[in-house]
Amino acid sequence: MQLINRTAGRLSRHRRGPLAGLAVLLLGLLISGSLYTAFSPAQAQNQASETDQIAQGKELFLASCAFCHGKNGEGIPTVREGYQIGPSLVGVGAAAVDFQVGTGRMPMASPGAQAPRKKVVFNDEETAALAAYVASLAPGPAIPNESDYSIEGLSEEEREEAISRGGQIFLTNCTACHNFNGAGGAMPRGGYAPSLHGVEGKYIFEALLTGPQAMPNFSNGNLTPEDKRDVIAYLDSIQETPEYAGFTLGGLGPVSEGLFAWLVGIGSLVGAAVWIASHTTRTKKSKVNA
Ligand code: HEC
Ligand code: HEC
Repeated sequence: MQLINRTAGRLSRHRRGPLAGLAVLLLGLLISGSLYTAFSPAQAQNQASETDQIAQGKELFLASCAFCHGKNGEGIPTVREGYQIGPSLVGVGAAAVDFQVGTGRMPMASPGAQAPRKKVVFNDEETAALAAYVASLAPGPAIPNESDYSIEGLSEEEREEAISRGGQIFLTNCTACHNFNGAGGAMPRGGYAPSLHGVEGKYIFEALLTGPQAMPNFSNGNLTPEDKRDVIAYLDSIQETPEYAGFTLGGLGPVSEGLFAWLVGIGSLVGAAVWIASHTTRTKKSKVNA
């Protein structure tokens, strides 16, 4: 740029020469021409690789997913009302595929109540191809960028704010199913909300965007990307902080805490009652009398 300015400056100083105007014009053409050749083939190549990626995704889809989700991802309805072997994937977006395939939930081994996390079957390139194919069916939520959920760029103070805001959002929106410390819990009809410990930021973001299975979805409209980032920061922080109480009772919430209260609480009450009974004046008196 500086070079161009300098050349242009020198040229304008020589404006008087009859060839100056022509030289500026030629220079302009040269620059725009070389810029064009620098960028346009790359663009064409990008487009070509995108179509390739979708084609690769479609091939993988037909081999591993169409069996349950239909040849065009339209879903397969079964005889039972409302229940599908595989739901329609039209409009679920790249984020849903990246989440389901990236956490090993899909391809599901056999239709069941809830696809568990398991060993991941596809590599990153194949997962991206599958995601690109499903995204090509209809628009849906895209895979988030790392900058959407990372708190790397924040100051120490901003991080603490993010974590405490995230904690509040978590308490109001997530604890009902995932437990107050993210340890997970049972859901109706044999389902469960999994533990959130050790889940990557990207997959938390995607789970929120797409609402897998019985989980509601939290679109960017009702939980802004920044809110999501804060929840991720909070979940990350509770894994780093040691438990405040001496031991966690399994972190299972009211059930184990209740049991603990019964055993230890009632137990010590009974113990105290026995102790009192054996130390009352009457027992002492009767001992003295004896
Ligand atoms: C054995 C049947 C089966 C196979 C094979 C299968 N799925 Fe699924 N898929 C399901 C069922 C059932 C659900 C819904 C239940 C659930 O999410 O636990 C589902 C859900 C999904 C969802 C979530 C949809 C949403 O609304 O968020 C995605 C995305 C998905 N599958 C992608 C895939 C891809 C990609 C493959 C192939 C690599 C695949 N599935 C293979 C049965 C299957
Ligand atoms: C109504 C109950 C419910 C609520 C509320 C809920 N979830 Fe979930 N969540 C689930 C269920 C059920 C699953 C399992 C889905 C599956 O396996 O397909 C899940 C899965 C997840 C996963 C995927 C974990 C993994 O193992 O890959 C994350 C992350 C998650 N939830 C985060 C959240 C956060 C954060 C909130 C609050 C903003 C929240 N959930 C609110 C029920 C819920």
